[in-house]
Amino acid sequence: MTEQAKRYPVPETIRERAWVDEAAYRTRYQTSVESTNAFWLEEAKRLDWFSKPQTAGNVSFSPDSVSIKWFEDGTLNACYNCLDRHLDTKGDQVAFHWEGDDQAKTDSITFKALHERVCRFANGLKDLGVKKGDTVTLYMPMIPEAVVAMLACARIGAIHSVVFGGFSPDALANRIVDSGSRVVITSDESVRGGKQIPLKENVDEALDRPGTEVVEHVVVVKRTGADIETTERDRWYDDVVADQSAECPAEPMKAEDPLFILYTSGSTGAPKGLLHTTGGYLLYASMTHHDIFDVHDDDVYWCAADVGWITGHSYIVYGPMANGTTSVLFEGVPSYPDHGRIGEIIDRYGVTILYTSPTMVRSLMAQGDHIMDSSSRQSLRVLGSVGEPINPEAWQWFYRVIGNSQCPIMDTWWQTETGGVMITPLPGATELKPGSATHPFFGIQPALYDNEGNELEGATEGNLIIKASWPGQARTIWNNHERFVQTYFSTFDDVYFTGDGCRRDEEGYYWITGRIDDVLNVSGHRMGTAEIESSLVAHEAVAEAAVVGFPHDVKGQGIYIYVTLNEGVTPSDELRSELVKWVRKDIGPIATPDVIQWAPGLPKTRSGKIMRRILRKIAANELDGLGDTSTLADPSVVDDLIDHRAG
Ligand code: WT7
Repeated sequence: MTEQAKRYPVPETIRERAWVDEAAYRTRYQTSVESTNAFWLEEAKRLDWFSKPQTAGNVSFSPDSVSIKWFEDGTLNACYNCLDRHLDTKGDQVAFHWEGDDQAKTDSITFKALHERVCRFANGLKDLGVKKGDTVTLYMPMIPEAVVAMLACARIGAIHSVVFGGFSPDALANRIVDSGSRVVITSDESVRGGKQIPLKENVDEALDRPGTEVVEHVVVVKRTGADIETTERDRWYDDVVADQSAECPAEPMKAEDPLFILYTSGSTGAPKGLLHTTGGYLLYASMTHHDIFDVHDDDVYWCAADVGWITGHSYIVYGPMANGTTSVLFEGVPSYPDHGRIGEIIDRYGVTILYTSPTMVRSLMAQGDHIMDSSSRQSLRVLGSVGEPINPEAWQWFYRVIGNSQCPIMDTWWQTETGGVMITPLPGATELKPGSATHPFFGIQPALYDNEGNELEGATEGNLIIKASWPGQARTIWNNHERFVQTYFSTFDDVYFTGDGCRRDEEGYYWITGRIDDVLNVSGHRMGTAEIESSLVAHEAVAEAAVVGFPHDVKGQGIYIYVTLNEGVTPSDELRSELVKWVRKDIGPIATPDVIQWAPGLPKTRSGKIMRRILRKIAANELDGLGDTSTLADPSVVDDLIDHRAG
């Protein structure tokens, strides 16, 4: 039997105590789509509300009036739900086992201790003039203060915008300006794989860019104690929290008040700031976390993502904390000091649930089974995967080697826009097929459309859309509602368009096939081809650039670039590495090009549109399936590109 055809039934030990078994999944799913509002009002009881909502969804997906609201009449505070409500029962329970990049550096923080730290910092932010509705940018390493800062913002009603610490000063500057943040929180340096990254210096560089004058204060956490330059606007975190009271009332927020902005790449233009609001988002993050990982009070949960991505927001901070779960927070990388690290952390803290990415799995798999010999991982019960399609081979390895063939794998499909997981197995309910995200979560109605917008039935493949809203859905793009409507609600009428392609098999299992727009997925990170292209054409040697993805063993997709140089510029290896450095500096290391091919011409239609389909095929070395090239303005361009394939 091929790996793909193999099935993995629900293990008996998991079924016995699971929150949701197969029958419960079926009946509850049915209710969730038939009596949607009643279903969500009932689920809303998972949260502590200052005033309970009487209404659930109030939604229009129609292009001229897109509006998404949930629980409008309810009030609550996200930070209160993550901390205060656990204090009586779980105050002394560990919220986070923090492990530094250097494994000798650790800290275990209880819910009570975290509550105190959050209150002090929240009061500190107030002293800096941060008010309800203000935006605050975070550019931080994976240290407890990152969680403290997010929750402190939520506590006082400020909107956080976390920018991944691997982004460049320019990328940071754009996000600071777009979000209008008056305060930036960072640290002197971050440490990953034994290397220091100058976060504060990057912030200073970002704040040299036009438009950033709005920033009044930079709060700096001392992480390494590096000797950094300081300016008038800088405040040490330690000084900001010194002498602050450990009491700070949690601001009552309307369910639809903004909780955070998170930037992500689209197929065109600058990254967009997706806006998530308080009540619906928190409910959806907490419920999905609870059911998908089948979380119980004795679990130790580890989501090995970064707080700079939506996975970190929903499944390191808001979901697990709202559920009062003990988590691991890891600063470092899986390969440092060696590839045994992940397994050793699992053993050290008795991790029962591990949520990670296919890229991480493949990077360990490439080392061979023996790298897991330094750990037993017997504590593990449930595994999770997110960020990109997991190929059946990696799925198998994850299952057999990391999970000792004992743990079901939750392949969770979702997006920054969806706030939480949308298509996924449940540990006690779903028979698994490696590589399939399986079935929709409660309340989620996926469908497959052809390009004309007709719904396809049965076993088929098409554009993945979602028919009706769910509480975790992003409400808008910050400062640009029009773009929100255009991107998600104009391709097909009255449904949410995901941008992903998907297959459904005879048994109704969903198999995500990947992006169908010009968005790349590199190591589970979303990259817009247009962003990389506009970075390249800003270089004086470059006339034109076309970026496509190609299959990459570890990263899933690699970045393949066709560059047309300006007249008179001679191609050279030096220029190639200069362009690689240029993109890294401009966007950040996650955008590092894998291959640059010199292209005297690009395949274009007579109307001047680049035929990416052809470029993708050449990059993937699939030269048989180039299709019809006769509509090209100059078909001979293609032969030249094939002759000079790089990589
Ligand atoms: C895109 C969203 C969701 C958190 C991390 C990424 C791809 C995500 C899966 C999966 C196949 C997946 C999709 C999606 N994706 N999870 N389990 N199987 N593809 O969030 O950066 O917003 O990217 O990641 O293409 O559209 P994101």
